[in-house]
Amino acid sequence: MTVPKFALSENSPAAVSKNRADVVVIGTLQGEDQVTLAPGADAVDAAFDGKLAAVLGTLGASGKAEEVVKLPALGKLTADVVLAVGLGKADGSAGTVTAEQVRRASGAAARALSGTDRVLSTLSAVDLQASVEGTALGAYSFTEYKSAPGDGPVSKVDFVSPAEGTVREHRATLKAATSIAEAVLTARDLINTPPNDLFPASFAERARKLAEANGLDFEVLDEKALKRKGYGGILGVGGGSARQPRLVRLAYRGTKPVKKVALVGKGITFDSGGISIKPAANMDQMTSDMSGAAGVLASVVLAAKLKYPLEVIAYLPLAENLPSATAYRPGDVLSMYGGKTVEVLNTDAEGRLVLADAMVRAAEDGPDYLIETSTLTGAQVVALGNRTAGVMGSDEFRDRVAEIARATGEGGWAMPLPEELRADLDSRVADLANVTGHRWGGMLAAGVFLREFVADGLAWAHIDIAGPSYNAGGPWGYTAKGGTGVPVRTIAAVLADIAEKG
Ligand code: BES
Ligand code: MN
Ligand code: ZN
Repeated sequence: MTVPKFALSENSPAAVSKNRADVVVIGTLQGEDQVTLAPGADAVDAAFDGKLAAVLGTLGASGKAEEVVKLPALGKLTADVVLAVGLGKADGSAGTVTAEQVRRASGAAARALSGTDRVLSTLSAVDLQASVEGTALGAYSFTEYKSAPGDGPVSKVDFVSPAEGTVREHRATLKAATSIAEAVLTARDLINTPPNDLFPASFAERARKLAEANGLDFEVLDEKALKRKGYGGILGVGGGSARQPRLVRLAYRGTKPVKKVALVGKGITFDSGGISIKPAANMDQMTSDMSGAAGVLASVVLAAKLKYPLEVIAYLPLAENLPSATAYRPGDVLSMYGGKTVEVLNTDAEGRLVLADAMVRAAEDGPDYLIETSTLTGAQVVALGNRTAGVMGSDEFRDRVAEIARATGEGGWAMPLPEELRADLDSRVADLANVTGHRWGGMLAAGVFLREFVADGLAWAHIDIAGPSYNAGGPWGYTAKGGTGVPVRTIAAVLADIAEKG
């Protein structure tokens, strides 16, 4: 991952017109019947004698979201080029632009600027945090495995300072936004690393390096330790692979922590479905079935970097789901961590099995909140599509997490855990079965299964990110192809909210 070098700059006509950037970025808006300039573009407009909107209109610009129009600066600025990026219609209350509009426009601009040396962004006059996040995320590409990587990301970006706030505040915002974006990109890098290189033991080693670099406690259980301690879910799922499972625990303890939060992320480094094997089409996308683990790993590291006054403990149950002579089978009964038994009716419903073990272990730490996230069900994508996570759990905390997910722009919607689905998980031989045996409410049934492993009274949220974690289509806004890093920004914002309000 390479993040551009970021700095702050003054927002006066003189400072903007003399900035040594190659390209100056301004925002445009979709007005009633013509393109208008976003706040922050005034200094550039002044250099164009107030005619910039008219010039852009002549070039066919409309200001619609993510539209990119470049025009030569013709000596009016030190920069050679002005890049006008569309924010769309002012969507916010009272005709303002939302943070997500700024984030997407900044991302679209960053994608159009790869190979550029130096850029000045004026979108930060509207929202500094959103423009920094959008720029860093939009500049990302995963080139680790390319012999000829091509143009790198833009190397240096100056952000004009917003009118409100002090320099000190702006510096803090720049630092926090950069750290948040880096956490998202850490998750993306892990997700995009192919499963022949990212498997349970190698993932655990990468977690160890991050823990050491950031002063976190680190612990990993290998297959022998998992066996000794009775982690039947993780061992069952991981047993079919020559690359045996792991359970990683990372802990951060801030000074004077106000609350303790446990994070659990599904870490299936490749999901073939196992003996209940998946169809071949798009099976390659199951390299992203560890997006939850990548997200919680990046989040606990971020909590340490931003020094949240919290205790955050992350669990990564890591396993590869493959069919083989040692694989678990439909009909097996697994004895889970904590003692419950589960009849396996479908080896492709493996996520809930590794998660259940990790969630029971996480509860032993006595957390105030439990956030679990996973690429758990295809049914999530059917219900909510590719850009909205399904959020389940205890009523209040679920609603709080879903609302925060929307505020970050990652998207999330509260979903119920219908009582009647529990009976459909009854097993002939064990305490419960891992699937219902019907397709209805598949996302909810997975949540109902997980609820059986949550300690009574614990505030918990289950975030199903099957759709939003991976972008199989083209890039848009600040989202690249491949791993998206959802829900890192949601978790970061939930942690910040808990740090503030308890
Ligand atoms: N990893 C998949 C879910 C998934 C599907 C994630 C599509 C991302 C995109 C999960 O392990 C799975 O296979 N779930 C099954 C559950 C079913 C057998 C009850 C599914 O959704 O089909
Ligand atoms: Mn599966
Ligand atoms: Zn899976």
